[in-house]
Amino acid sequence: MKISAIIVAAGKGERFGGNIPKAFFPLNRKPLLAYVLEAFNQVSDIVEIIVTLRSSLMGEFWEKQMGKFSLVKPIKLVQGGETRSDSVWNALQKVDRESEIVLIHDAARPFVTLQLISDVIEGALKWGASIPGLRVKPTIKEVNPKGFIVKTHDREKLFEAQTPQGFRVDLLKEAFKKASSTRSIATDEAFLIESQGGRVKVVEGDEKNIKITTPADLEWAEWIMHRSSS
Ligand code: CTP
Ligand code: MG
Repeated sequence: MKISAIIVAAGKGERFGGNIPKAFFPLNRKPLLAYVLEAFNQVSDIVEIIVTLRSSLMGEFWEKQMGKFSLVKPIKLVQGGETRSDSVWNALQKVDRESEIVLIHDAARPFVTLQLISDVIEGALKWGASIPGLRVKPTIKEVNPKGFIVKTHDREKLFEAQTPQGFRVDLLKEAFKKASSTRSIATDEAFLIESQGGRVKVVEGDEKNIKITTPADLEWAEWIMHRSSS
């Protein structure tokens, strides 16, 4: 079986700030993206890794940042788009014709494990679409534009979506084609399928698979790394 992995790294990193693009920010002297590439590089059925990037980061910058990490799998660099979905769509055009499954993962989640990748692949093979989800711990309130509570959501039904998200390639491409108007509001790929009535299976997520969004998340990440290595 052949699987393609798409790593999305073409965002602006506005909430993170900093003078180096988020995906290349060093955690223990290694760029976040390098952790991700090393993990996906170890999965035997993955035949290629497609990375979405802003075009200014290809070429010299890429070489300087990533050249020293020896990866066995072929890496394709693809120009990202305005929104995450645009980036994923561009990458989907480059997926190997023989790939049955595509995995999409945030460059900003350096702690993805081989176990999680394999659980998502299994879910995608069985159900066509599968994502990792974590039960939410806090009580979630919905508020109106004036800041007053409208509703308390039933926590039992709420899950936080993570990546990698896994899909049968034909199913995801089809969902993208049908979703032209809703594409821009999608913050993950599962949305495109679920909003069209398709089924997406949630498998057990991983608490350590955090997404680095703000500088405070990076402090968390440093703490997690430190704890796992001691
Ligand atoms: N992403 C992308 N192309 C875009 C927007 C986002 O490839 N047009 C990627 C980001 O690089 C990131 C992942 O999608 O790895 C998750 O997005 P997020 O955490 O929101 O990162 P940014 O969009 O970079 O950050 P921000 O929203 O704060 O600007
Ligand atoms: Mg974003």
